[in-house]
Amino acid sequence: MIEIRHLKLIDAVAKVGSLKKAAEKLFLTQSALSHQLKELETHLGTQVFYRINNQLHFTPAGKEFRDAGKAILEQLGQLENRVQQINQDRLKSYIHGYSSEETQRLNDQASTISELLHRDSKWEDGALILEAGCGVGAQTQIISHKNPGSNFISVDLSEKSLAQASQVIREMNINNVEFQLADVFDLPFNDNTFDHIFVCFLLEHVSKPELALQELKRVLKAEGTITVIEGDHGSTYFYPDSKTARKAIQAQVTLQKQNGGNAYIGRQLYPMLSDAGFSNVAVSPRQVYVDDSKPEMVDRFIKNTFTAMIKGIKDEALSKRIISRDEIEGGIRDLYKTTEGGGTFCYTFFKAIGYKER
Ligand SMILES: C[S@@+](CC[C@H](N)C(=O)[O-])C[C@H]1O[C@@H](n2cnc3c(N)ncnc32)[C@H](O)[C@@H]1O
Repeated sequence: MIEIRHLKLIDAVAKVGSLKKAAEKLFLTQSALSHQLKELETHLGTQVFYRINNQLHFTPAGKEFRDAGKAILEQLGQLENRVQQINQDRLKSYIHGYSSEETQRLNDQASTISELLHRDSKWEDGALILEAGCGVGAQTQIISHKNPGSNFISVDLSEKSLAQASQVIREMNINNVEFQLADVFDLPFNDNTFDHIFVCFLLEHVSKPELALQELKRVLKAEGTITVIEGDHGSTYFYPDSKTARKAIQAQVTLQKQNGGNAYIGRQLYPMLSDAGFSNVAVSPRQVYVDDSKPEMVDRFIKNTFTAMIKGIKDEALSKRIISRDEIEGGIRDLYKTTEGGGTFCYTFFKAIGYKER
């Protein structure tokens, strides 16, 4: 069979004019290159070059192969660029981005509400669990530690986040997690591979979450469960109330919507999972309530998780003219006021569990 390496070989020879230079260009030894050339000529049943005065000349068949191969390589290059661009666009559309501040925020968020979200994140020993959209591994650390008898494959679209996640898991001496680059809309797994699926704060960021759920259902075994945890910014209320702070939160909602996401997805988990064909769907709201009596939560949830999230979208919201500078800065200031004496803050996450029927 003609392989891409054969096309590259002929293309390189056409460009540099000698086998020696072509081998250097392709980082091959000259004997490896001669071997490949022989392989190609045997397959084609004809010679590709002949030599005159130590110079290589293409045979008529070789010319045809060279020209058609060049066009194929160009097409492949364009395809590669288009595919990479799709991935880049997906990464760009992730509203929170991949900064070190966001890594810190995800870790603060996960550890602060770990008990609230994960008191029941328990699966049987021996289970193979897919975690989709694991990010920097903030939830991975918690669920894999809590389920030492299960095995996890944690996937994300961001190579950078996966590298961070994998380093953290190694440093924690956790050895029941494997990380893999994958898109939740096109998972590189066979049908019915996983006993359970876990998704946290992913569906709120993707357009067409119903298609992601279909793909997740495909790789889930019959009688397996899916667990989905998402937020809902409409559940945010606080004291002292502030119209400006509410506007700042609304800016995040609008921006997320413009990027294809849905910041109000929490309330929709029941219909979404049911419509995707999961059965016995059960949703439990998990409310965070913070006041002065929990100073640690004031810092870790109101400041480092929620307000940090609004601060994180400030520049993009301003550049897209979703909100004015005065409003977003005033909104952030007012959110901080809820952390001063007498302030309170409420937010509700939604955790849904559904089953795949036999
Ligand atoms: C808010 S973060 C949540 C990370 C983690 N689950 C947590 O709770 O800390 C969302 C993650 O989803 C990933 N993501 C977005 N679209 C994705 C897709 N189509 N396939 C896989 N991961 C995706 C992003 O790269 C990001 O790491």
